[in-house]
Amino acid sequence: MTFRAIPKAELHTHLEGCAPPSFIKGLAAEKKIDISKIFAPDGGYAFRDFDHFLQVYEAACTTLQNPEDFRRLTMAVLEETASHGVVYMETFVSPDFCGGGDLSAWRDYLAAMEDAALEAEEKLGITLKGIVTGIRHFGPDASKPAARCAAETKGSFITGYGMAGGEMVGRPGDYAYSFDMAREAGLRLTCHAGEWGGPDMVADTIRDLGVERIGHGISAADDPALMAEIAEKEIVLEVCPGSNVVLKAVGGWASHPIAKLRDAGVKVTVSTDDPPFFHTTMTAEYDMLHKTFGWDVDDFTALNNTALAAAFCDDKTRARVA
Ligand code: ADE
Ligand code: ZN
Repeated sequence: MTFRAIPKAELHTHLEGCAPPSFIKGLAAEKKIDISKIFAPDGGYAFRDFDHFLQVYEAACTTLQNPEDFRRLTMAVLEETASHGVVYMETFVSPDFCGGGDLSAWRDYLAAMEDAALEAEEKLGITLKGIVTGIRHFGPDASKPAARCAAETKGSFITGYGMAGGEMVGRPGDYAYSFDMAREAGLRLTCHAGEWGGPDMVADTIRDLGVERIGHGISAADDPALMAEIAEKEIVLEVCPGSNVVLKAVGGWASHPIAKLRDAGVKVTVSTDDPPFFHTTMTAEYDMLHKTFGWDVDDFTALNNTALAAAFCDDKTRARVA
């Protein structure tokens, strides 16, 4: 059974994390950068655990050095993603990997990404929106230039602000300054939480950062009162089951809490996070949800409707891609 052809919306990807190993190897060869140790003998990315994954991810990012690299990356990612029926995609983009938080450099990188996104929209029928992201383990001060880049470039492409990276560094409230700056600029807000942290991390993220979506959020399933609160507030979870399985945030597909969250009335969506790192695609995610929980076309239609309703885009875009 394959669900490749179903039109899909995915809200949670990281642009650099979507880079195929062959793409990064090509850039490394062009620039004579030796990052051979981040690859496994089968050619894929090699990492032992989440912290090592972040190191490998950042090593791969050292090959992405100028706007043209990001233009090519954006196009390559959209070609692959569109081939799985994805018609609407949101991706985290980080000023830290695009000029180190310098606003003028960031504008150049962004122009290149947006250029590729518009070309892909015309040629492939896939719409891309960008969510500027701070990197949590770089610390609260480093997230401020990222938030400023976000606030200054809010527009038809950059529509949101979020935070990724090592979740156990600091508490959500330490990053409130950046989220407040983004909110005041009119950006929509999401934040990774509850991938590694417990329900308290999810609750603090909602309370202290005022987000309308949570990246992952799976530990909320351990707290019935929190699930009820999330359902009541209609906060949407960007669940990435294949990522959680490979990074061992859960024991396996059978024990993944996505069905429990959905049954508790929580609005769940499904995304791939960093697909080549986790050997996944949106088609593979749907196939595994079908195999594990018996979810079928009607369930996937509901997931996509939830994702589109929660998408960080305007109603005109929503209506066009629906
Ligand atoms: N950056 C890329 N993938 C991530 C993940 N799964 N969690 C936190 N930060 C990330
Ligand atoms: Zn993520």
